[in-house]
Amino acid sequence: MKSKVLVARATFPDVLDRLEQQFEVESNQDDKIFSAEELHRKMQGKDAIVITSSEKMSADVIAANTHLKAICNVAVGYNNIDVQAATKAGIMVTNTPDVLNQTTADYAWTLLMANARRVSESEHYLRAGLWKNWRFDQFLGADVHGATLGILGMGRIGQAIARRSMGFDMKVVYHNRSRLTPEQEAQANNARYVSKEELLRTADHLILVLPYSAETHHIIGAAELALMKPTATLVNIARGGIVDDVALIAALREKRIASAGLDVFENEPALHPDFLTLPNVVLTPHIGSGSEKTRRAMADCASANLVAALSGQRPPNLING
Ligand code: DGY
Repeated sequence: MKSKVLVARATFPDVLDRLEQQFEVESNQDDKIFSAEELHRKMQGKDAIVITSSEKMSADVIAANTHLKAICNVAVGYNNIDVQAATKAGIMVTNTPDVLNQTTADYAWTLLMANARRVSESEHYLRAGLWKNWRFDQFLGADVHGATLGILGMGRIGQAIARRSMGFDMKVVYHNRSRLTPEQEAQANNARYVSKEELLRTADHLILVLPYSAETHHIIGAAELALMKPTATLVNIARGGIVDDVALIAALREKRIASAGLDVFENEPALHPDFLTLPNVVLTPHIGSGSEKTRRAMADCASANLVAALSGQRPPNLING
């Protein structure tokens, strides 16, 4: 008998076709967002579920679905899943690391550059028909070349971001739970390990790349923003809850930092309405890993984890094993 799988969000048709050859699949190609009750109903009788970072697998949801063998997240971040509860219930949890490192690093740079050179703000001005004359002092931004790049969270994506800074002759400072090896630091443009305080004080452009957890909740709040340079820019491509949105809005409004580029939000897809009123913030809808090639690689990676989990093998990206 074929194992039963729920693919909770739309995926590439050929990826789905391949899964349908092996499993009895209930899919959601209309990409309807299921309510918690709908999701719970659809999970009944399934052996595994494929989800994205938008679907929450809380301890309650897991306790009601202990028949599951695997939860396969199509994301590297897995703060949407109570891994401890899944482990207790004997459910395998997998993610999609590595395949998105380079694309996400590219995107961090996209936001950094857009911030520094006020791309979004000046484009809005132009589109609104306000551009009447070239002006010497118009939309002056901050230089990227020669500046100090700060990275909070120096995992594989952080290191990929740092490597890209070589071409801009930047200095790199970073803070992380643990220090990189000297070889890794050398490859990351001779990144210098510093305290969080020093990172905040010295970075001209700060990028947040750390996973979200109870420990990193609001790790950037009013006190941390107060340490940053008034000319500094901030990029968050990690998870919304890492930054206290209310504190960030106040810092941006009062120009206590120059600008922010945000791809993730605390309660996404809802965002704090005040962000929309600020000219000095670039806002995008969680598209950091969103290149065609990388999203495909993520779908393939999640499928490989699913196939392994349901055929009694160790999934390549098992988080809780
Ligand atoms: C990830 O992989 O964690 C991305 O943020 C998409 O959810």
